[in-house]
Amino acid sequence: MQICPSKIRIRQEITRLRAAGQTIGLVPTMGFLHEGHLQLMRRAAQHADAVVATIFVNPTQFGPNEDLSRYPRDLERDLDLLRAEGVAAVFTPSPEEMYLPGADAIVDVPSLSGILQGALRPGHFQGVATVVSKLFNITQPDVAVFGEKDYQQLAFIRKMVRDLDMPVRIIGHPTARETDGLAMSSRNVRLSPAQRAAAPILNAALTHAEHHPLPSAEAYVTQVSQHLARESLCDIKSVEIRDSEDLTALSGPLHRPAVILLAVAFGDVLLIDQRVITPG
Ligand code: PAJ
Repeated sequence: MQICPSKIRIRQEITRLRAAGQTIGLVPTMGFLHEGHLQLMRRAAQHADAVVATIFVNPTQFGPNEDLSRYPRDLERDLDLLRAEGVAAVFTPSPEEMYLPGADAIVDVPSLSGILQGALRPGHFQGVATVVSKLFNITQPDVAVFGEKDYQQLAFIRKMVRDLDMPVRIIGHPTARETDGLAMSSRNVRLSPAQRAAAPILNAALTHAEHHPLPSAEAYVTQVSQHLARESLCDIKSVEIRDSEDLTALSGPLHRPAVILLAVAFGDVLLIDQRVITPG
């Protein structure tokens, strides 16, 4: 596996792979890899000859009061995991390598960047879209794989690629979970033992909603909020139900697939989860 800390090195490596006739599958990450990330690598390998991973904790998608400095990191362990997956190359830039002094171009999808998570985290999705665009430009992949766990991020990237005619196919991959149902996340290690024990309630509330049809969008929001409120460690930031494709707000009876999106804080750790509800 080639470890490429600079843009020049990863471009050289990709040129070499392309010259050998290989297609490229990209998996962008912020590192501290878990089984969910590794599933994305395997998924990319099904759709491309060579898998290229990126590890970059992107400062521009963190707000001033967010957990950038506390974001967990372990590059050596991550590299071992990627090697074991047969990843061809990994791009590991520093912030200075990634962003030239004075760089201020941004990419935005305004209809999606100010809602849901974007309303809780102003600037977050512009940061994501800008870094993902840069990663696409640097690596020029045929396909790129993203997790459904970050449902709004996936919808955002799909729309960005569509609206800006980016020549890459986006593949979404289902959420990998711990055995107790908690969605895997690099942030889970920051939960206290009590918070960790309480956190599977997100999945439990969503699973209950999935299996108990309700008459309206509003009823789902009420039911899921009440379920979460039973756990005193849960600080509910948002419970919303949206069209599963374009994330527009829904009300009344469900006629099309909808997605319930949760953002719940445990202390200063913000967890998200989601579930698509298909009306019977
Ligand atoms: P990160 O949180 O490291 O996630 C990298 C990729 O792994 C994303 O596509 C995310 O949706 C996916 N992922 C995370 N947890 C998952 C799980 N439990 N199951 C399946 N997939 C999971 O998302 C980011 O980084 C960044 O915003 C990034 C896209 C890299 C841009 O900086």
